[in-house]
Amino acid sequence: MAGVTDRPFRQLCRAQGAGLAVSEMVASNALLWGSEKTRRRIDHAGEDEPVAVQIAGADPQMMADAARFNVDNGAQIIDINMGCPAKKVCNVMAGSALMQDERLVGRILDAVVNAVPVPVTLKIRTGWDPQHRNAAAIARLAERAGIQALAVHGRTRACGFRGEAEHDTVRAIKSGVGIPVIANGDITTPERAAEVLQETGADAVMIGRAAQGRPWIFRQIAWYLATGERLPEPGPSEISAILCEHLGNLYTFYGEYTGVRVARKHIAWYSKGQRDGNVFRQQINQVETAAAQLQSVRGYFARLADHGELAA
Ligand SMILES: Cc1cc2nc3c(=O)[nH]c(=O)nc-3n(C[C@H](O)[C@H](O)[C@H](O)COP(=O)(O)O)c2cc1C
Repeated sequence: MAGVTDRPFRQLCRAQGAGLAVSEMVASNALLWGSEKTRRRIDHAGEDEPVAVQIAGADPQMMADAARFNVDNGAQIIDINMGCPAKKVCNVMAGSALMQDERLVGRILDAVVNAVPVPVTLKIRTGWDPQHRNAAAIARLAERAGIQALAVHGRTRACGFRGEAEHDTVRAIKSGVGIPVIANGDITTPERAAEVLQETGADAVMIGRAAQGRPWIFRQIAWYLATGERLPEPGPSEISAILCEHLGNLYTFYGEYTGVRVARKHIAWYSKGQRDGNVFRQQINQVETAAAQLQSVRGYFARLADHGELAA
């Protein structure tokens, strides 16, 4: 997820039980590879294996080059983004816009699969709009091209993030291919993860927004799937410890100035729905140094612990 799944967050999610965590997307435009943003996105030092990197673009040759560039920089899985609805991405006919042009999809998949010796996976939506749900056709195309796993966000491009993810379409996709299918969209609890696996017949589930500020959702889901039992929610002290370690890793990765700023959205997610969270977020957004940010976070969660409460 762009702006979210940087290396510190991926490492945290893996430590909390995620089986795989994919990088923020790397543009296929080589002109951007020298940028600070791309430099950070291709930094996989100390990352759990397999290292999976997502690439985005619409030109088969450029996508092949981007795949090679990332494999040279440590990627062990290349994931192709055909799921992103962002205007910035779609206006240049990349992300989910590509699903309109199946021939071009085929050319991109062939070019990338043939360019690298590592597994290539694909992320799609269910189609371009509700009248054009062509994900099943794209899935078959992907399988023929040698794509090794397919993640499906159960919405069309036109649906943005509105409505509920349509997992019945994911079921139809799964029944038409032999490669692993990963169901994605609106999975926010262990119970929902189990239901979606059941409803779709998918081989795995992918969690996006529900992991923001709740990275322990992965171990909760893994435990529930293995035992049928729910792990208790972490208390304020445990959350504080996880968040402070996360913050420390952000400061190291980005440097203090940028790290403190990147951390703000994560702190907001961790404190969402909690007692006096609004006041805390207003205050924390004024804080400029790592030491003060850590102190403020520790103080807030200690107060929650004193109140003996945490919103569910
Ligand atoms: C802030 C944000 C950034 C995202 N960036 C990407 C991205 O770069 N590549 C991608 O394949 N999907 C991206 N997505 C989509 C998610 O991977 C996922 O498909 C979608 O959020 C639905 O899953 P969820 O309901 O579990 O969040 C992004 C979503 C959000 C909210």
